[in-house]
Amino acid sequence: MTHTDGKTVDRAAIWNTRYQNKSAAAGQLSDELQEKLDQLPIGRTLDLACGDGAAALQLAASGHQVVAVDFAKEGLKRLQVFAAEEGRVIDTHQLDLSVTGSLSALGCFDNIVILRYLPDLSLLQQLPALIEPSGRLFISTFNLEHHRQTGFSQRFCLKPRMLCDSFPQLKLVEYENGAEEGRPLDNYLFQK
Ligand SMILES: C[S@@+](CC[C@H](N)C(=O)[O-])C[C@H]1O[C@@H](n2cnc3c(N)ncnc32)[C@H](O)[C@@H]1O
Repeated sequence: MTHTDGKTVDRAAIWNTRYQNKSAAAGQLSDELQEKLDQLPIGRTLDLACGDGAAALQLAASGHQVVAVDFAKEGLKRLQVFAAEEGRVIDTHQLDLSVTGSLSALGCFDNIVILRYLPDLSLLQQLPALIEPSGRLFISTFNLEHHRQTGFSQRFCLKPRMLCDSFPQLKLVEYENGAEEGRPLDNYLFQK
């Protein structure tokens, strides 16, 4: 539950309804995102706020051992259906990422992937400790161009260079300011 302006909003319920209303087909990643994920070294990989698994499924198909978490059980259900259809095993967990310590039982990862979700500061700060030495963190999420094009709340949008200095324990390998080129996503790749 989130409290906004005195109102209580059940965000997981909103997402569950969205996933229940989606078509039967699995979501597809853009070519650009697929190429980015293909650059991650194969290993144990966490897909944070995985939704119905567009990235988790691609990572599993590439040979990653995928752990996928989200608070929307309907998204996770869809992911498991798609994984079964493709003969893949994906370890899913229904977790609310706004709860402190929600990731603490999952162990460490060679890669953490976050697509189209902006974690809050306290969650971001937990991530470096969950990454193995030389492991990678890839974040690709909405920027202010997405807000401009769609009206999507600015609160959930990256400002330019917003995460560049967020992880003193990690090295920034690549930063792409999509907004500068009229694209709705900014990309960050960090390495431990
Ligand atoms: C725009 S979708 C992106 C899904 C997926 N990463 C993708 O790119 O296809 C955002 C996801 O964040 C999840 N989410 C939002 N807040 C969350 C929270 N507090 N804990 C866990 N998941 C959350 C939603 O359920 C939804 O699946």
